[in-house]
Amino acid sequence: MNAQAGFLPKQAKALLDGQQKVLTYEETGGKVTAQFASHNLNLIPSIPASSIIHDNTCGSGTVTRLILSSKPPSNIVIHATDHDQAFLDVLQEDVKKNSWPVEVTNQKSENLSFPDKYFTHSITNIGIFFTTLAGVGGAKEIYRTLKPGGTAIVNCWEYVTWFAPIKAVHDVLRPGKPYPAPTINWSDGKQLQKVMVEAGFEQEKMKVEKSEAWAHPKDVTKWAELGWAFLGGIGTWQESDEERWDEAVGLLEKALREADGTKIVDGEVWMRASQWVVIATK
Ligand SMILES: C[S@@+](CC[C@H](N)C(=O)[O-])C[C@H]1O[C@@H](n2cnc3c(N)ncnc32)[C@H](O)[C@@H]1O
Repeated sequence: MNAQAGFLPKQAKALLDGQQKVLTYEETGGKVTAQFASHNLNLIPSIPASSIIHDNTCGSGTVTRLILSSKPPSNIVIHATDHDQAFLDVLQEDVKKNSWPVEVTNQKSENLSFPDKYFTHSITNIGIFFTTLAGVGGAKEIYRTLKPGGTAIVNCWEYVTWFAPIKAVHDVLRPGKPYPAPTINWSDGKQLQKVMVEAGFEQEKMKVEKSEAWAHPKDVTKWAELGWAFLGGIGTWQESDEERWDEAVGLLEKALREADGTKIVDGEVWMRASQWVVIATK
């Protein structure tokens, strides 16, 4: 889920190897995606008996865990899918340990193995914009696999406080090296609605809203290190990043504290992220 091809500084490797990557994500972006998922599940009626739910681009099961903790009827089934095995392994371990009614499979969201009209709910939490055809690839599969009358929840970032600081550190430490700009801008919420309509959902049966969540690290230096490990590869790791690791973390911490979207309350750092969410009925 992060750019890692080629050279990887030893410090990043230590934080991204196998299941450690999952912990790194859960301590940073994962805390915020979980707040969005929780908010969005409250926008729909509670999960009825016999529901068949897709936790699409599930990561380590953020949506799955929230649904299960809401004490749903015992005969529901959740299918959790992602293409990153490290995340699926963490979820699978907990599924086994707790005998949860969850099937975990490695699948790409653009090419799901499920039959047509299978799910009562399809929830893609902070994942659709990673899918092919600028999100249409994922949206089409959501539409295809949802039962008529079923509910889809999809969302995307509106604003993320730490994205600009990550780029700022890249610009300082890797002058002249390119930083990939997203080809499509999702931040005004239009692309999210567009892909759903292109997939077959009707605009009149879509509810759109915006909400915010906060990252509130106890240890901002540690958060900066995990954040740099997870996202520093967007701009392609350089061999110099290994020697300049501590400098990068220091620069990132400073940029985070000063960023648009950060507030400091009683000495504690709060970093804002916001989402667009679409709730669509098929
Ligand atoms: C930001 S994370 C969100 C994870 C989880 N839904 C959450 O709320 O924390 C995005 C997830 O999408 C997965 N992903 C990205 N592209 C994918 C694709 N084409 N097919 C399946 N999963 C994909 C990544 O592996 C990652 O786990």
